[in-house]
Amino acid sequence: MDKLNNTSNFIKTINGINSSETPIWLMRQAGRYLPEYREIRKEAGSFLNLCMNPKLSAEITLQPLKRFDLDAAIIFSDILTIPMACNRDLKFIENEGPKLKPIKTEEEVYNLKLQNEIYLEPIYESLSIVRSQLTSDKALIGFAGAPFTIAAYMIEGKGSKNFSNCVSFFQNYEKTFMELIKKLEYFISNHLIKQIEAGAEVVQIFESHAEIALKENKFKKYCIEPNNNIIKNIKRRYPSIPIIGFPRNAGNLYAEYVSTTNIDCLSIDQNVNIKELLNNLKKKKVRNLCLQGNLSPEILLKGGKSMIYSISNILESFSSVSHIFNLGHGVIKETPIKNIELLIKTIREWKR
Ligand code: CP3
Repeated sequence: MDKLNNTSNFIKTINGINSSETPIWLMRQAGRYLPEYREIRKEAGSFLNLCMNPKLSAEITLQPLKRFDLDAAIIFSDILTIPMACNRDLKFIENEGPKLKPIKTEEEVYNLKLQNEIYLEPIYESLSIVRSQLTSDKALIGFAGAPFTIAAYMIEGKGSKNFSNCVSFFQNYEKTFMELIKKLEYFISNHLIKQIEAGAEVVQIFESHAEIALKENKFKKYCIEPNNNIIKNIKRRYPSIPIIGFPRNAGNLYAEYVSTTNIDCLSIDQNVNIKELLNNLKKKKVRNLCLQGNLSPEILLKGGKSMIYSISNILESFSSVSHIFNLGHGVIKETPIKNIELLIKTIREWKR
């Protein structure tokens, strides 16, 4: 696939070429709020069965684009396929979320290997199926979790509010924790490069739990630097592939993330004050950065006039920069379909 063939508004915007239309996609745009997803999911029996089946995962990836006027597809998979490929016994338990075999000892870190790359192969296959079915006016996004966020799940063994096992691990064994981050950096870089080779035209790095590092004053060491190393590894091989970074809830440190890394687009959560962020970016002399976000998923869940008001505010605040419309986090599963239809209609009809 010749990357330059993609003429989408999405790719133009992310490369800083001004366009009158704001591209739109939504994190978790394929998923449980869609009846057609729930149907395939029921047949397959589990979420992981879907991730491991390239044909089904490709079909699910395309479902939201069949229904809505979106500008990009994001491949249907999960950030935890990397620990799964490291033999950490990943399971998704209904109404509880992911469970893995937690890393408890330093030895487990030193012995960690990407033993079962076979669990990552379906993602590459799915990407090539999706790319062959997408028209050139739509972009295809690949993704991975960032090292800190994946490490947090690997040590905790599950989702958690404060990831206290992970925090005590890095407080007690910082050197070993850095070894884990380094190993993940390598696995994730290769995984993203393979996704690009399979057809991804853009990649997004999800640092969804940046907040845990931030609270411990470790954001630079555990998030910015490892994200930067991955970005460098990708840029060295594929300099023209745009990269989106999403260090969620990084607050005042979003600007530092951007000024240290050579990121093309910054995705921001719903708690960011856009004017403040734009000022901070100016102070750091950041130019030509595309921004992505930042409607609250709760506002989308509610819909109606207050949603229209929030959307207009976002479009207005971003009108001086390249902007991709998205949420501050994933679509909530109870979100009515008509709210997404209204969101897209509002953005398409918005005029500066
Ligand atoms: O955005 C997309 O549409 C692409 C697909 C995608 C999924 N997960 C599908 C998914 C992406 C990019 C992710 C990222 C992901 N996965 C993150 C980072 C972003 C974030 O949401 O914070 C994290 C932390 C995970 C780990 C994960 N996967 C959790 C905690 C859960 C359970 C939470 C929940 O919503 O039930 C998942 C499951 C998951 N990943 C689902 C989907 C569609 C739900 C699957 C189902 O039950 O059918």
